[in-house]
Amino acid sequence: MSKALEGIRILDFTHVQSGPTCTQLLAWFGADVIKVERAGEGDATRAQLRDIPEVDSLYFTMLNHNKRSMTLDTKQPAGKAVLETLIRDCDVLVENFAPGALDRMGFSWERISQLNPRMIVASVKGFGPGPYEDCKVYENVAQCAGGAAATTGFDDGPPVVTGAQIGDSGSGLHLALGIVTALFQRTATGRGQRVQIAMQDAVLNLCRVKLRDQQRLARNGVMEEYPQFATGQFGDSVPRAGNASGGGQPGWILKCKGWESDPNAYIYFIAQAAVWPAICRVIGREGWITDPAYATPRARLPHLMQIFATVEEWTKTLTKFEVMDILNRDDIPCGPILSMKELAEEPSLRATGTIVEVDHPERGPYLTVGNPIKLSDSPTVVRRSPLLGEHTEEVLGQLGYGDEEIAALRAGRVI
Ligand code: COA
Repeated sequence: MSKALEGIRILDFTHVQSGPTCTQLLAWFGADVIKVERAGEGDATRAQLRDIPEVDSLYFTMLNHNKRSMTLDTKQPAGKAVLETLIRDCDVLVENFAPGALDRMGFSWERISQLNPRMIVASVKGFGPGPYEDCKVYENVAQCAGGAAATTGFDDGPPVVTGAQIGDSGSGLHLALGIVTALFQRTATGRGQRVQIAMQDAVLNLCRVKLRDQQRLARNGVMEEYPQFATGQFGDSVPRAGNASGGGQPGWILKCKGWESDPNAYIYFIAQAAVWPAICRVIGREGWITDPAYATPRARLPHLMQIFATVEEWTKTLTKFEVMDILNRDDIPCGPILSMKELAEEPSLRATGTIVEVDHPERGPYLTVGNPIKLSDSPTVVRRSPLLGEHTEEVLGQLGYGDEEIAALRAGRVI
């Protein structure tokens, strides 16, 4: 079966997480992704958080599937010449170097588009133009600068970063969409273009509902679905809402049986208005169905925490999976807090290819997250990440380099 991005060649100059997540997706969609790494050391993540000595880390392997790897010292003249050949040959260059690094290497956007006017140059930086544009940025910096940390956690505690890598993987997703959109436009214009993602912007885009709330707060001084509503304690910016739902249906995380010893024995419970009578029946509070203090969503708002506490008295008597079963019989929305161990062992995720076991020549089998985007005409087969420089000769051969030229590049430590 053909692949959606078959025939598209990507010059993958990415490292760490944000860029590699983008090019991994493009590889899963069928693009030929050539990861160009520094001769000798390669992507720094190969050696970070290693669980097996001298073997590519899971950090690296889980972000670089289905790619080819070549080494190249792009600071040497002969390396620059190879890079020029690659630029002429590829459709997209993706990079997430620190600001200015590509220019310092001698490959500005103007120079690249001179070499190949069809080339799409896609970049991730920490910030867009403005006071912080020259700063280096990692995941949590972006979470803090993009509004996520200020709005995550509990009201009486400090800002909190989330485990979801919305700065890195979130930027990678945005970048991938920008690239395929630019490829689509190129079919009509014949021209490449620049695609730029600032990690701060990507995080802010994912925090869109909080900018919504900032404006609601400015207008009304309160927000009814926030836990602060009961006490009326709002400041002038969106507060941390604990586990409150970000939408119009109130929700909270409730303890389930075993919570004293199991850190994940919890369930997310949503008091959806449409199923309020069913909720009352399940927890044995039928009186709340008609009691004017509880009968309508508006009437319930001041007592939400008390309502959640009452529901929790019931959820604490059952496991999270039992609660899930019982509530779903009545279409009451809820979700168990699944640990990474439970997710890794979940058969349905294995069946869909969302969690995949991959074999690696040096580390043996390991688990990874497969492609979460399922295309019916372009199924994903997850292949292991490349060893450093595994495809250097192969790629150079395809670019027209002969054996002697390749040997000379190796002797000069260009590859
Ligand atoms: N051959 C020769 N030199 C190479 C090379 C190659 N194949 N690949 C990279 N380099 C050089 C770069 O040109 C740069 O040199 P310079 O500083 O002289 O210009 C140098 O390696 C280091 O690159 P840099 O990107 O600055 O790496 P870093 O480890 O110092 O910083 C980040 C890492 C992630 C902080 C930084 O790259 C960054 O801010 N990136 C943008 C935001 C981002 O993606 N952050 C999330 C990462 S998950």
